[in-house]
Amino acid sequence: MRKILGTIAAVVFAGATLGAGYPGQVPAVPADQASKTNPVKPTADGIERAKKVYAVDCALCHGEDGSGKSDLASSMNLKMKDFREPDTLKKRTDGEIYYLIVNGAGTMPAEGTRAKTEDLWNLVVYLRGLSDPSVLPAEKKK
Ligand code: HEC
Repeated sequence: MRKILGTIAAVVFAGATLGAGYPGQVPAVPADQASKTNPVKPTADGIERAKKVYAVDCALCHGEDGSGKSDLASSMNLKMKDFREPDTLKKRTDGEIYYLIVNGAGTMPAEGTRAKTEDLWNLVVYLRGLSDPSVLPAEKKK
């Protein structure tokens, strides 16, 4: 009996930890949002716009290169992940990343309607491209 209870507790705990992502930092994403797929076909122009959004709204915390190293993050004592590491966003669905950007995540401010929906979906692809450039669309032929 003890063993069974222990197993149940372990499973519940693991579930809670997974669901919460990073307790106190990154909130859980509702399942119907997490399952959303990217409705936008990434284009070189779209990624270019996403890069501008990133430079203005994200780099101050996440770093220009996505490393998570920035003056603001260190002065706020934020524990940042490195977007250049493939593991960072590997388990995140596109829907989850989009949701966290739009709604914010703990200390991270919500992007809300500051940028166009299309640009924010491109931003999801841009973030993935920081660890895997092969997901980015080919440059436009000049
Ligand atoms: C005020 C600082 C701040 C700004 C600005 C900010 N973030 Fe964050 N962000 C954080 C913190 C803190 C976390 C939680 C720690 C982490 O995951 O690195 C986080 C987490 C995330 C995550 C979740 C990572 C994960 O899976 O746990 C994503 C995706 C993300 N940010 C993207 C962005 C994007 C895109 C922008 C710009 C639109 C942005 N952030 C702007 C501070 C910030």
